[in-house]
Amino acid sequence: MTEEKKIIFSGMQPSGLITLGNYLGALNNWTKLQNDYHCLYCIVDMHAITVRQDPIKLRKQAKELLLQYLAVGLDPEKNIIYYQSHVPQHAELAWILNCYTYMGELNRMTQFKEKSLSHADNINAGLFTYPVLMAADILLYQTDLVPVGEDQRQHLELARDIANRFNGVYGEVFKIPEGYIGKVGARVMALQEPTKKMSKSDENKNNTIALLDEPNVIMNKIKRAMTDSDNEVRYSDEKPGIKNLLNIYCAVTGVSIESAEKEFTHAGYGVFKKAVGEAVVAKLQPIQQKVKELEKNQDYIDTVIKEGAEKAGKMAYKTLQKVQKKVGFPTRVR
Ligand code: TRP
Repeated sequence: MTEEKKIIFSGMQPSGLITLGNYLGALNNWTKLQNDYHCLYCIVDMHAITVRQDPIKLRKQAKELLLQYLAVGLDPEKNIIYYQSHVPQHAELAWILNCYTYMGELNRMTQFKEKSLSHADNINAGLFTYPVLMAADILLYQTDLVPVGEDQRQHLELARDIANRFNGVYGEVFKIPEGYIGKVGARVMALQEPTKKMSKSDENKNNTIALLDEPNVIMNKIKRAMTDSDNEVRYSDEKPGIKNLLNIYCAVTGVSIESAEKEFTHAGYGVFKKAVGEAVVAKLQPIQQKVKELEKNQDYIDTVIKEGAEKAGKMAYKTLQKVQKKVGFPTRVR
């Protein structure tokens, strides 16, 4: 890890089983960055509790997410992989940044508005200040680049605003992060509602393919995916179901859209769906195999967890100390 390498930070919530969408849209691309950047990939369990979670499930999902990070090929020697809750600096910086963020700014966050509607019985303060915790995640590590999807752009913009505001008062404390615009991953849509994004928190499990779904489950879900009635495999916005399946097929096989269209135009949806299913199964099987191997090696996992938190903690502490000094907290006597 040389110093000149730019720092990349990203995170995923352990709020459900990760999906083919998470894999093709994010994880798979992360693995391509690990040689050229200094990357931190956080499992943001503290973000996850902004909506109610079953504690047993949450802990299990956090572990599964870690195993899947490793199984897709994120190397813990090259990347810092860790649980957010193991590095208390996130919460400490978030508190400070809360005092430099305006209610009006948080009120404008579209994700807060959406989540307030979908969790109307639990509009807690954490849900409201969620973007400030995310800003802390990013700013703690002097991050240069943040690979995020469209839905997180507004939060990243806020992190930049907070950093600029803080720097404006105290001098250059935070690096101002930018969105990472690399080769964008495939945007995978819900199988039954192909106009909305595939999401791991979707209640309808027929909408999602989990990375760890059994082959027959995957085949069935794809077989039942919503399409249309004209039976022509063509890439068009008017055919969101087929378009989604073509995107998935091409992302997992590396085949171009044009040649996939050519191959399947008149094959009929049954044949096409079977090919998509088989291609997805073939892509996920080695990952699933790897997860099974990792599950047998708890000592190794424990080492990864411990070392990840240590490495992240060291970097985070540097920034936090600077911030604490700037805002006027008394120096700690050690
Ligand atoms: N809010 C992000 C999401 O739900 C997850 C996240 C938390 C994140 N902290 C982050 C992403 C920092 C990038 C950088 O998808």
